[in-house]
Order: sequence, then structure tokens, then C-alpha cells
Amino acid sequence: MSRALAVVNQKGGVGKTTTSVNLAAALAKSGSRVLLVDLDPQGNATMGSGVDKRALTRTVYHVLLGLSEVSAVGARVERGGYDLLPANRELAGAEIELVDLPRRETRLREALERVSDEYDFVLIDCPPSLSLLTVNALTAAQRVLIPMQCEYYALEGLSDLVATIKRVRSNLNPSLEIAGLLRTMYDPRNTLSQQVSQQLEQHFGDKVYRTLVPRNVRLAEAPSYGVPAVLWDAASKGAQAYLALAAEILAQGRQPA
Ligand SMILES: Nc1ncnc2c1ncn2[C@@H]1O[C@H](COP(=O)(O)OP(=O)(O)OP(=O)(O)O)[C@@H](O)[C@H]1O
Ligand SMILES: [Mg+2]
Repeated sequence: MSRALAVVNQKGGVGKTTTSVNLAAALAKSGSRVLLVDLDPQGNATMGSGVDKRALTRTVYHVLLGLSEVSAVGARVERGGYDLLPANRELAGAEIELVDLPRRETRLREALERVSDEYDFVLIDCPPSLSLLTVNALTAAQRVLIPMQCEYYALEGLSDLVATIKRVRSNLNPSLEIAGLLRTMYDPRNTLSQQVSQQLEQHFGDKVYRTLVPRNVRLAEAPSYGVPAVLWDAASKGAQAYLALAAEILAQGRQPA
């Protein structure tokens, strides 16, 4: 049975995709079998994995609509060492098409259940919204990883997200849990960053990952080469942070429930 982690924050540009791609590669590096699901019509996780989203004929869209199986759409990302269920802009249509279909919230879960034995981890990169796509991710996952920037408005957005998680828990996925909050693009010289970071630790305690992802140009550059930074420049501070995060997540898995 795989562990499915949804990477969620309705706020844009907080590092969801950077986290999904690099964590996928970092977990794969440590020997885990990983499936990365791109659930964002922007297709950034797809491009960041080195797969050209414009050339795809079958994507996660077809899986959600029941037209394809995960095993038929999934592509091997050789350099990253993981499998990718890709996305492109066609996925934007799924949002509308799914509304009238039965089991609209559980379609991703049902599709992933059929490949669950083949992976240790399934990571789901979500779009910047609390849409039906995100609800599908929250329904398919056991845990939620929340990347966030330590900014003034960060905590405000978090309450909407926590409310959505609670709603999904009571209606669709009773065992859904927050895996952890991940501080991204962290700048230790910035006083506000430090303050927000401390507030997070006070409010969420051990739900805050110990790993801090620093602002690091290698993480921003890597997508243009279609290679996760963890492989592009493994020695960089950004890559090191994601390797540390993978170790933290693997250690979480070994703790007794
Ligand atoms: N730690 C970091 N240091 C420097 N740049 C970063 C870091 N993390 C992410 N970035 C850059 O910031 C931008 C936003 O990151 P990313 O695409 O991962 O966020 P996102 O939450 O997935 O965005 P969206 O909500 O649009 O999907 C990208 O250009 C990315 O390369
Ligand atoms: Mg993204």
C-alpha cells in the first residue's frame, strides 16, 4: 500500500510544485517507488520533470474522466527516478465536466487505488485553489503537506485550507491528516520571516517540519532544464533541504501510529 501525500495551498507561488518535484526525486533517490501526480492545469510539475506538456495526448484529465487508467498514462521520468502522471491545460476542462458526473470527488482516489501496490509514495501537486481538483487530491490522500512562505498573510490563508481539510474529513476521507507545514523560500535574515516562522511553531507544534527550505536560485533554475534541483545540483542548499525533508518524511513513516 502506498502513502499518498497531497501538496496543497490555495495561495499561488508558495512552492507546491518545487516541493512536489524535488521531494519525488529525493524519495526516489532513497530507494522509494514514487508516483508524482500533476493535478494542476498549469502543468508545471510535468514540465519541471522534463516532460513536454504540449506533446501529450493522454493526461490525468483522461484518468479523472474514466477514459484511461493510471498505468496507461503514467510516464517514467528517467532522471528523476519516479513515474509521472502528467497534466496540461486540458485539465482545466475537467473541473467543469466533472460537476455533472457521479463520484466526482472520489475519481482520483479510485484510479490511484488500482496502482497503490506499485508505489511507496504518491505525491499530488495541486493547483492554487480549493477547487474540485484539490478536493479530489484531498480525498485520495492520507496526508496533506502544506508548503508556505513565512509572510504576513500566510496564516490567514491557512484557516480556509484547514476548514476545507475538515470538510473533506467529515464527508469523504475520515482519516485525512495534516502531515506537516513546510516553510519555503525562507530567508533567515528577514525579521518578519523569523516571526511568522515562530508563530507557526507555536500554533502547529510538531506539525511544522523541522526542515526549512531556503530561498535558493538553483531551485528556481532547475525547472528550465526539466530536471529536479535535487539532481541538477545536489550540493546546493535548496537540494539539500529537500533531501533532508525526504529523510524527515521517511522517519515519520517509521514512527508507530
Ligand atoms: N526555495 C525557493 N527558492 C527560490 N525560488 C523558489 C523556491 N521555491 C520555489 N521557487 C520559485 O518560486 C516560483 C513559485 O514556485 P512554485 O511553482 O513551486 O510554486 P507553486 O505553489 O507551485 O505555484 P502555483 O500556485 O502557481 O502552482 C517558481 O518560479 C519557483 O521556481
Ligand atoms: Mg504549482
